Amino acid sequence: MITLFGLKFRYNKVMTKYKINNSDFYNFIVGIRSYFDKNATTIHKARNELKVIHYNDVDTIVKSFKIPHLLNRLIYSFFRDTKAKKSYKNSLKIIQFVPKPIGYIEFYDFWLLKKSYFISEKFDFDFTIREPLLDNTFKDRENILRAFARFTLRLHNSGIFHKDYSPGNILIKKTKKEYIFKVVDINRMEFKQLSQRNRAKGFAKLWANDDLLKIIADEYALHYNVDKKFKNQVLYFSNKNRKIKNIKKRLKGQPVND
Ligand SMILES: Nc1ncnc2c1ncn2[C@@H]1O[C@H](COP(=O)(O)OP(=O)(O)OP(=O)(O)O)[C@@H](O)[C@H]1O
Ligand SMILES: [Mg+2]
Repeated sequence: MITLFGLKFRYNKVMTKYKINNSDFYNFIVGIRSYFDKNATTIHKARNELKVIHYNDVDTIVKSFKIPHLLNRLIYSFFRDTKAKKSYKNSLKIIQFVPKPIGYIEFYDFWLLKKSYFISEKFDFDFTIREPLLDNTFKDRENILRAFARFTLRLHNSGIFHKDYSPGNILIKKTKKEYIFKVVDINRMEFKQLSQRNRAKGFAKLWANDDLLKIIADEYALHYNVDKKFKNQVLYFSNKNRKIKNIKKRLKGQPVND
């Protein structure tokens, strides 16, 4: 701790900070930069980059977070948990709903955050919720949506509000018996008791059409005591989200498809 202008600042002289769930992965995590750089199997690259890396007989997913701009580097270095750390901490809190976390590591340059990585086990999913939402010929579509509603209800009943509950973040594996769901992109979550409005808001980022949302809301209401406003609330929050996002897209000159 150092004191400047009467304010206390947290700092750490060491150049890395990490937590690892399983000591078998120690060498992997402390050496993650070279494993990441020499490995070519990128599975996703937008703001952040994700790679599948095989280590200790496990397929891991390594998420490398983009280097933040200077102000955020300061904020993340001294005041706020990094996205990698939050992803790890949140995963441990909601362990049954996420791919198994392995660890995270942060690299600092003169006390300023440079890069951070979050490592989890690869979840062998068959599709994300995006496919059944968009493809009206998707096999077993209605059952998948209903299973998805029940999964979301379990999340909600555990006091979990995923702030980025969008289609690409909901992974689904089909087994002989059932559909298994896991969520990713878990650095932004709230833990609280959810009101009916919060629960309805939970479906707003799916970009699903009203008919599909009605099926989801219907299944949810079969298993949880909501009043008759619930279905309309689900539609209301989803359409509100769509309108706001579309206005933002128009302002940025991006194409708007719906
Ligand atoms: N543990 C995992 N197992 C299998 N696939 C994963 C796993 N983690 C991530 N993925 C895949 O990588 C994709 C992107 O991951 P994630 O959503 O965490 O990153 P992102 O969308 O780029 O994040 P951000 O929005 O912060 O840039 C997911 O949609 C999923 O397909
Ligand atoms: Mg995502």
